[in-house]
Amino acid sequence: MAIWNLGSINIDHVYRLDSLPRPGETLASRGYAVGLGGKGANQSVAAAQAGARTRHLGAMGMRDRWVRERLRDAGVDIAGVQRLPDHVTGHAIIMVDATGENSIIIDPAANRSLDEAQLLEDMAEMAAGDLLLIQNETSCQLAAAKAARARGARVLYSAAPFDLAAVRAVLPEVSILAMNEVEAAQLFDAMPGDLPVEGLLITKGSKGAEYRDLKTGQVHHQPAFPVTAADTTAAGDSFAGYFAAALDEGAAIPAALRLAAAAAALKVTRQGAGDAIPTRAEVEAFLADQPN
Ligand SMILES: Nc1ncnc2c1ncn2[C@@H]1O[C@H](COP(=O)(O)OP(=O)(O)O)[C@@H](O)[C@H]1O
Ligand SMILES: [Mg+2]
Repeated sequence: MAIWNLGSINIDHVYRLDSLPRPGETLASRGYAVGLGGKGANQSVAAAQAGARTRHLGAMGMRDRWVRERLRDAGVDIAGVQRLPDHVTGHAIIMVDATGENSIIIDPAANRSLDEAQLLEDMAEMAAGDLLLIQNETSCQLAAAKAARARGARVLYSAAPFDLAAVRAVLPEVSILAMNEVEAAQLFDAMPGDLPVEGLLITKGSKGAEYRDLKTGQVHHQPAFPVTAADTTAAGDSFAGYFAAALDEGAAIPAALRLAAAAAALKVTRQGAGDAIPTRAEVEAFLADQPN
């Protein structure tokens, strides 16, 4: 089977500052790093490094060859990544002060300008049993989800960044809805009652994660692995990508949760987003070291 991921590709520009700039203020940076980010790219890197056949669907500008190489090096098939001549690649300006507080600007750019006809053409080989991942940082989620369901594929939707209108629109096509605790609270507030999906994946940071099987009513709990957190960026994306890859391998929910929690825990020990997601070998070695 294969994992398809319609997802954002961002270039993260991270600036270290003594303090965050106030209106009208100009500050010199203490450090600068550039890396691969975007929820979509992060999830594709995670799924591919977990070992799943992963095909990314998305869009970027005409430049930034290193981004495509980074995705390819992680094992992601990027034939479905559109190159848009009139847009730049999505990017984020991330400012971090001495206490770790941040301010972030995201320019979605190409991510929100996908050519829908091209996207649907690129999905032609999607087959029954495949899994489509979507999030809220691109355009065309609903069209892609409908096309996936029509082919017998399942849809795993990360409702992030949270957007109620987007959730309402795609929910009828979703198989598994994934959220962090904050997003889940927003959703349950806005949409009390039963959700029309087969499962809910709720991650709770250092408190772990749970999967609610809405067909049987069973709830699976997964504690977080105790680690020293250096940077929690992309924890949820590492979790989602590894969880999807485990399901794609045919793993049962408890095993998929455990693998995903280990991958996310390891990610949290490292600085960065897409570049800091661990490989399957690293995750297996980490799990082998755990007392239970
Ligand atoms: N401090 C931490 N220690 C260990 N694991 C963590 C930590 N923070 C996050 N994780 C793991 O990453 C998963 C996703 O984190 P969470 O914060 O819920 O998602 P998001 O990144 O979307 O906000 C958690 O369920 C947990 O398994
Ligand atoms: Mg979080």
